[in-house]
Amino acid sequence: MQILSFPLFFLAFIAATPLNPRAVQTLIPKSVFDSTTNLEQYFTYNYPWGTDHNGAARMAPSHVSLSAGTLTLTAQPVTGQKPATHGGKQIPIHYLSGAVGAKQHFTVPANGGLAFSGSFQATTIKGTWPAFWLTGVNGWPPEIDMAEWKVSGKISFNTFNTSSQVAAKDVSYRSPENFHDIRTELRHVNGKDVQVKFYMDGKLVTTQVGKGFMGKAMYL
Ligand SMILES: *[C@@H]1O[C@H](CO)[C@@H](O)[C@H](O)[C@H]1NC(C)=O
Repeated sequence: MQILSFPLFFLAFIAATPLNPRAVQTLIPKSVFDSTTNLEQYFTYNYPWGTDHNGAARMAPSHVSLSAGTLTLTAQPVTGQKPATHGGKQIPIHYLSGAVGAKQHFTVPANGGLAFSGSFQATTIKGTWPAFWLTGVNGWPPEIDMAEWKVSGKISFNTFNTSSQVAAKDVSYRSPENFHDIRTELRHVNGKDVQVKFYMDGKLVTTQVGKGFMGKAMYL
């Protein structure tokens, strides 16, 4: 049997910083992938809630590795796994994959904002779905897809108000063999909503608004 193991992601760094000029504070430093000690200070393995979600991949810490300040997440086809259960349905598991989730939760406060930035090399190989997102701790939405890479050779930037009211922007993802800078800025608006600005390689790609996201805790 041929074993395929392909990298989903290389993250050279990730940094999260509040956008309040009066109190700028780094929440996750750029040195987070310099050592396993640093990684484990800020991140847990798997999804924040466990190993399974709504897809055919089960997360496994064996698919997370660190080298020279870069985090690598890989996926591998697998057989013989027990199915996942999601929304009362059984989902067959066909892959093991790496994932990390931040230990802390992120909330856009009434007076400020948050910036998430990282340098990513991500594949668009068929069967993969690398993703970097924020999602609600206490119910769903909020969900902000800071970047999702698609087999179509596209990268997607999305904000969900509900499962059917979604702002979605797909753009071409050129030269996946190179690292690209992704930055997402979240700011409060009108005391309820959150404005989301999505940047790739220093250019603003799109601006979206998350309904009622202010003050709601999110997983990274
Ligand atoms: C989501 O809700 C916000 C706030 O009401 C609104 O500005 C935005 O346009 C909505 N998004 C979509 C896709 O309708």
